[in-house]
Amino acid sequence: MSVSSAAFVENTLAFDLVHVTEAAALASARWVGRGCKNDADSAAVEAMRVAFDKIAIDGVVVIGEGEMDEAPMLYIGEKVGSGGVAMDIAVDPLEGTTLCAKAMPNAITVVALAERGNLLHAPDIYMDKIIVGAGLPEGVVDLDTSIENNLKNLARAKGKSEQDLVLCTLERERHQDLIARARAVGARVQLLTDGDVAGGIAACLTTTGVDIYVGSGGAPEGVLTAVAIRCLGGQMQGRLLFEDDQQRQRAMAMNAHQDPSRKLGLYDMAAGAVLFSATGVTSGTLLRGVRYPSHAPHRAMTHSLVMSSQSETIRFIETHHSIENNF
Ligand code: FBP
Repeated sequence: MSVSSAAFVENTLAFDLVHVTEAAALASARWVGRGCKNDADSAAVEAMRVAFDKIAIDGVVVIGEGEMDEAPMLYIGEKVGSGGVAMDIAVDPLEGTTLCAKAMPNAITVVALAERGNLLHAPDIYMDKIIVGAGLPEGVVDLDTSIENNLKNLARAKGKSEQDLVLCTLERERHQDLIARARAVGARVQLLTDGDVAGGIAACLTTTGVDIYVGSGGAPEGVLTAVAIRCLGGQMQGRLLFEDDQQRQRAMAMNAHQDPSRKLGLYDMAAGAVLFSATGVTSGTLLRGVRYPSHAPHRAMTHSLVMSSQSETIRFIETHHSIENNF
């Protein structure tokens, strides 16, 4: 990356990005608790798409709402931005659509950005993920190690016992064995109904009490999480999971025919300087949701997390919006 483009990424885009996730959060927040996850998602997509065009980048969506024929906006390959540095864009306009529809915690809007060619092109399949926070020996946990040994090694590195560890995962049938084995060695298990981007980030924040995130979830969400973990200085490994040969061929075609089953390190998923922004839609462990102050009917407040790998900055931003001006 050249010095000028590095400065551009650092100084301008972090704050541009937060406008994008805020816009999506304000739009989808209208649908919180209304039981309509698709409407909530569409509102977020539309608002995010409009907000992107105010940013001076030459962006291409590499993680988006699906293929061009499946999604009207923010589809894979769509160009966004008003022109500038060539960038890869990863979006999840509403991460936790069901959480939003049911007014449950941890629905967020998410965007990640890297210079062109630096984000893994992940198809909409599952990915195995393992994540721990910063300050631990490199390789302290590994996807190819048993959960028992991972917990033992993590406990030793943290100077704790396994009984003191909290493992976070999605509550899914496919994780029953993982959950039982983690509990059998004494660890506590925190179960999420949805939202493994927030879950993965939680493993890197000391305030959450989560020591490790393990389990399979969406591969696109995995790439977004990898960007966040890069910014937080944590460790993450992933591996794409294929249900059939068609999925495998698709992943190969998207990623220059590399071995699609290989274990992916953080830099395989998100290389170079990366930026991440997320805004809360409903309140959760990571962020507060959109709030409407009772004394000011035309205002709303958002809470966002904006991070840069380059400057290693982690910013929590509370913004007070005039709804009339914004929408
Ligand atoms: P949506 O926002 O698309 O509903 O995804 C929510 C989510 O929980 C993700 O966080 C996670 O990666 C994925 O779904 C897990 O998929 P599944 O529900 O099939 O286990």
